[in-house]
Amino acid sequence: MFDLLVKGGTLPDGTVADIGIKGDRIAAVGRLEAEAGRVIDATGDLVSPPFVDPHFHMDATLSYGLPRVNASGTLLEGISLWGELRDIATVDEMVERALLYCDWAVSMGLLAIRTHVDTTPDHLRGVEAMLEVRRRVAPYLDLQLVAFPQDGLYRTPTGRENLLRALDMGVDVVGGIPHFERTMEEGAESLRDLGRIAADRGLMWDVHCDETDDPMSRHVETMAREVTRHGLGGRAAGSHLTSMHSMDNYYVSKLLPLIAESCMAAIPNPLINITLQGRHDTYPKRRGLTRVKEMQAMGIPVGWGQDCVLDPWYSLGTADMLDVAFMGLHVAQMTHPAEMARCFTMVTETNARIMNLQGYGMTPGSLASLVVLDAGHPVEALRLRPDRLAVVSRGKVVAEKARNNSRLSLAGRPVTVRRRHG
Ligand code: FE2
Repeated sequence: MFDLLVKGGTLPDGTVADIGIKGDRIAAVGRLEAEAGRVIDATGDLVSPPFVDPHFHMDATLSYGLPRVNASGTLLEGISLWGELRDIATVDEMVERALLYCDWAVSMGLLAIRTHVDTTPDHLRGVEAMLEVRRRVAPYLDLQLVAFPQDGLYRTPTGRENLLRALDMGVDVVGGIPHFERTMEEGAESLRDLGRIAADRGLMWDVHCDETDDPMSRHVETMAREVTRHGLGGRAAGSHLTSMHSMDNYYVSKLLPLIAESCMAAIPNPLINITLQGRHDTYPKRRGLTRVKEMQAMGIPVGWGQDCVLDPWYSLGTADMLDVAFMGLHVAQMTHPAEMARCFTMVTETNARIMNLQGYGMTPGSLASLVVLDAGHPVEALRLRPDRLAVVSRGKVVAEKARNNSRLSLAGRPVTVRRRHG
């Protein structure tokens, strides 16, 4: 007897299987005939482990237009706008916006998010707000918080002290922003400092690293060195790495083996990278996405992140990790069927591994979290970015949506149309 049985779905690897759930765990996967408290018929539909976002800014989300829109569209104007907003936003306002975003995420089958939290201001209201949100959503959504010194670890008098205060308050992950420190040398020193803090505290480490078009921004080299020095491989990630787009190929041929040796991961954020980078160029205009396929060929884990939704840096977004993968697939030219399938894996399993999520997966004993999509397979899911018919978090159905087919009024044509194919 199962509490919940998801019948006849197609798993991302193409296997057709029933999934039997007891309590908050997957109890069995295969052809299952047992009774169940509730049955979800997923025949012909894709049943996937939940989507995972390893890079987000939940303290800023859903604030688009506050205090005004980003007129230049640049990263630097976004940082400046956020600098104003973070000092006028109340804890309650940030909690309310973040909880609304988490509702969107759940409806999209996005059940784990790593969010960077700005630790720059002495009031640390963003940290207070995100700790409250983490507590409120804990029953159904894994929220990891990164202590993120947005204005630089050393560029404000209390930058370092406030990052440590945030970690003491219970923030999970050490952040960083070396390319925004005053000098290259201070950027490198910040990485040595932050790597030590992560190692000493036994924490994960995720750095906004080289988010610039400057090909000489080479902080990822220093980060990889510190990850290797402290044995942080498997617990460290470099986010963005956009300067790698513009780097000299000979230098990259030395850099990638160093990153691979460290076992750190990379988190490009294609919606944001393609929007913010190259703003100083005329033509040809660089698009700023890091070297995804080249890193994957070296065995470096690469996951797609969302970064922003309706905030000072980005004016769109729906909490749909398939949108993120769809953009990444285009910009990185990952159009071979195997590469498209890998893009789906990047926003599910790879991101879960980068975040070190426990119990993630579709095997017996895993946490019973999954999403049923109106698509036949992962590549079709990328093409359609379809309805999430059901979302299950730790054994509980947390979101449902009716299948939504269009009705046609055309003589001699079928009455309903579905965009699924083959
Ligand atoms: Fe970011």
